[in-house]
Amino acid sequence: MNENKWNRSHILGLVDWQEFEYDILLETASSFREVLSRATKKVPALQGQVITNLFFESSTRTRSSFELAAKRLSADTLNFSPSTSSLSKGETILDTAMTYLAMGTDIMVIRHQHAGVPQAIAAEMDRLGNGVSVLNAGDGQHEHPSQALLDLFTLCNLLDSETPRIGLLSGKKIAIVGDILHSRVARSNIWSLTKAGCDIHLAGPPTLLPELFSQFVPGKITIHRELANALADADFVMTLRLQKERMGEQLIPSLREYHQQFGITRESLAHCKKGAKVLHPGPVNRGVEISSELVDDSSLSLISDQVTNGVAIRMALLYLIGTLKH
Ligand code: NCD
Repeated sequence: MNENKWNRSHILGLVDWQEFEYDILLETASSFREVLSRATKKVPALQGQVITNLFFESSTRTRSSFELAAKRLSADTLNFSPSTSSLSKGETILDTAMTYLAMGTDIMVIRHQHAGVPQAIAAEMDRLGNGVSVLNAGDGQHEHPSQALLDLFTLCNLLDSETPRIGLLSGKKIAIVGDILHSRVARSNIWSLTKAGCDIHLAGPPTLLPELFSQFVPGKITIHRELANALADADFVMTLRLQKERMGEQLIPSLREYHQQFGITRESLAHCKKGAKVLHPGPVNRGVEISSELVDDSSLSLISDQVTNGVAIRMALLYLIGTLKH
């Protein structure tokens, strides 16, 4: 058991997370994973609490996963999506948040295309002193903490499913490949995986992976322009979607050429350590950043484990922040 106590009421980013926080979260997620394997997959932990999903940007897995996690904890859920809301009538984001607040929301899960929106709403909740928690479900290119946490859980769980803990990843080599510039998933993973003591190797073309990324955590991150060098002896490979919606201009010559240079395939995995596994946060562009056959090969790909683990990790996050004040 960890003697340090959970003390975080908002989950906005991983940049300042301590090792003990990761361990408390992994331990909690592990127990919820067990709950999810039972015949009755529900616990009464957050009964009566209202959890509101405010997704200003589209999402499949993150949004559904938060909704299911909230329901498994017996909370009541509200869902907001911009296309069917009063946003189109000119209402501001803060007024939207205040509307859900007036309905008794206890936790807001927020995704927005602009960096900083969840932080601004959290600051307003703190100013009002209402005890409402904010969970960042992806803000612009900034952070996507719950995704990096489910990635961490997936990796640690693979190494020790009885007692997943961050220390298990110390000294592991992880290659993160592709459109790192536009990826909030990569940024959050850089914070968690460097805290875990991993050796991080980033690979991509200069237009999608500027040199300055090596300065994120000096001495812990190596940049590669040749995929084979990044993959050499790697324990895990994380590949990322080309975020075309965030590119203002053409940043790669062609999809075919990109796939040839940076696409992850069974063949490119041969550079890695034997038994190396592939992660992808989804949504996947088959045949671009990863070959279609690799996506479907469960002996090499952890993609569906990531989705499954996403529910347990989000239950753990909601539980920890939802029970903090009680
Ligand atoms: C990611 C996101 O939205 O940041 N997806 C996700 O949450 N599972 C990555 C992406 O969009 O490529």
